[in-house]
Amino acid sequence: MRKKIVAGNWKCNTNLQEGVQLAKKVNELVAKEGADDVVVVLGTPFTHLTKVVETVDTDVIGVSAQNCAAEPKGAFTGEISAEMVKSTGAEYVILGHSERREYFGETSETLNKKLALALENNLTPIYCCGEPLEIREAGTQNDFVKKQMEETVFQLSANDFKKLVIAYEPIWAIGTGKTATSEQAQEIHAFIRSIIAEKFGNEVAQEISILYGGSCKPSNAKELFTNEDVDGGLIGGASLKAEDFLGIINGF
Ligand code: G3P
Repeated sequence: MRKKIVAGNWKCNTNLQEGVQLAKKVNELVAKEGADDVVVVLGTPFTHLTKVVETVDTDVIGVSAQNCAAEPKGAFTGEISAEMVKSTGAEYVILGHSERREYFGETSETLNKKLALALENNLTPIYCCGEPLEIREAGTQNDFVKKQMEETVFQLSANDFKKLVIAYEPIWAIGTGKTATSEQAQEIHAFIRSIIAEKFGNEVAQEISILYGGSCKPSNAKELFTNEDVDGGLIGGASLKAEDFLGIINGF
C-alpha cells in the first residue's frame, strides 16, 4: 500500500523562533487530532532543520530540506550538501521545485547530481515536476512532464526510483489561489503513474506516492485527495498555519 503523505514547504518563511513554534504547534495538533495513516513532513529552511528535528516527535513528523547542493563538498560558498542535511536529522529533501528552476536556473543536469547525492546520503527526495500556464493552455502538459521525468528520475535504477516521492505542481497553481480541478489532478497523476509503469513496471508504479501541489487548502484537500492517483499534497502557503495544515492532513 503506497503512503499517503502531506508535506509542508515553508519556502523562505519564518525565522528560527517562529519556525520552531510552528513545528511545535503542528506536532501537537497532529499527535492529538491527525489522521494516523498519513505521513506528515515539514520542509523548513536549512537554518531550522536541527532545531525542528529536536522539537518534533520524529515518529510523527518527518523533516525535509528544500534543496541541497549539486556537489558533495568543497569550495562552493553558501551551499549546503546532502550530507550536511542528513547530519541534521532531516530525512527528506525537496528537489526540482519550479521556483528553484525559475529563479536559480536549476537544470535537469544539476538535478541529476542532486538526486544522486540525496540518495547516496539516504535522504528521500521529494521530486517536483509540473508545467507552466502556456503549456497547460496548449494541452501539452503530459509531454512536458514526461520530458522532465525522462531527463532526470527516469535515469535512476528502479531500486533508486522507488525511494522517491513525486510531487506534481502545476506552476500556474502555485501561490495563485488557482488550484487544478480534481479531474485535472487525477488525469495527470494517472498519466504520471502510467509512464512510471511503462518505465519501471506496474509494481513500482503502484507503490510510489504522487503528491499534488498548488494552492491546496483545507477547503479543497478532500476533493483532491479522494482521487485514486493523488496520494497527498505538497503544501506551500497553507503549511504556514498549523490549523490549516492539519485541515489538509485530515482531508483524506
Ligand atoms: O511546494 C509547494 C508549493 O509550491 C505550493 O505552494 O502556496 O500554492 O500551496 P502553494
